[in-house]
Amino acid sequence: MPRRHKIALIGAGNIGGELAALAAREELGDVVLFDIPEKEGVAKGKALDLEQNGSVLGYDSHITGTANWDDCAGADVVIVTAGVPRKPGMSRDDLLSINLKIIRNVGENLKQKCKDAFVIVISNPLDAMVYELKKVTGFQKSKVVGMAGVLDSARMQLFLARELGVSIKDVRPMVLGGHGDTMVPVTSYCTVNGVPVKTLIAKDKLDAIVARTAGGGGEIVKLMGTSAYYAPASAAIQMARAYLYDEKRLLPCAAYCEGEYGYKDLYIGVPVVIGAGGVEKIVQIELTSDEKAMLDKSAGAVRELVEASKKL
Ligand SMILES: NC(=O)c1ccc[n+]([C@@H]2O[C@H](COP(=O)([O-])OP(=O)(O)OC[C@H]3O[C@@H](n4cnc5c(N)ncnc54)[C@H](O)[C@@H]3O)[C@@H](O)[C@H]2O)c1
Repeated sequence: MPRRHKIALIGAGNIGGELAALAAREELGDVVLFDIPEKEGVAKGKALDLEQNGSVLGYDSHITGTANWDDCAGADVVIVTAGVPRKPGMSRDDLLSINLKIIRNVGENLKQKCKDAFVIVISNPLDAMVYELKKVTGFQKSKVVGMAGVLDSARMQLFLARELGVSIKDVRPMVLGGHGDTMVPVTSYCTVNGVPVKTLIAKDKLDAIVARTAGGGGEIVKLMGTSAYYAPASAAIQMARAYLYDEKRLLPCAAYCEGEYGYKDLYIGVPVVIGAGGVEKIVQIELTSDEKAMLDKSAGAVRELVEASKKL
């Protein structure tokens, strides 16, 4: 008998709440919204509010708020947002020591309760956190992935569409590398339905968009005092859907490299195909020498963070 999918959301904060709303609205399955005991009321309250929202909107997903790991057992998809977000003036890397402890705790529990899940990590600093989660759980590399490239590309897509005066639907962006200031908007692969953006936009305008994309998260932190949550949640739901419905989407995600692009034992943003097998493959694309140099620099920054994590 087919059964409904189960989606466990670890962290019931801003992104966790929006993830639950989207997963329910899209009827991806039943949703478990997990948080620490001090926040169990928030998790339960959001869950009840969202179930009542289902009465208005007409979806049937069951949504449970909890601080009990047993409720997450057997999840098909786990999305991890546990941790603290940035405040104005902070870099993602400033979150390392506090979020590392949280990710280790989450990893230990996932190992016990959710051993068959496809795990999408969102917590920052993203590339170091997803590396740690794979290390702690010992899960296969195809089943542990980080969300960053879909969001960073979405930001670039918006800025390009607005600058060019075209529909957002026709802009195909591509942002690779670590989820930090060194991310690599790969302009040679950005097109408007196949037309290279470089042929449509002046170099100084494109450079400004590249810079705004790399600082895209910080721009929102400065405005709101905390990090973005609508687009990050939608990006992770796109990845979850690709897995649950075997969509074979080609998406930029933080994936575990074992030689691809010349990187070993490293999570970094690269184009991958997500289907029923999880991260089914890493797609290796030709990069210009400048782009490869930028990707190498970004990989170096991620590796530094991973090395710092090992000492904490
Ligand atoms: N990858 C990306 O592109 C991206 C984008 C935006 C934000 N983020 C990151 O996502 C994370 C979450 O952001 P947010 O805005 O939802 O933050 P938030 O503070 O609103 O929510 C985080 C939640 O995690 C919970 N938590 C803490 N320790 C936990 C544990 N051990 N187990 C379960 N839950 C625990 C907190 O109680 C809180 O409710 C942050 O680290 C943020 O920097 C990543």
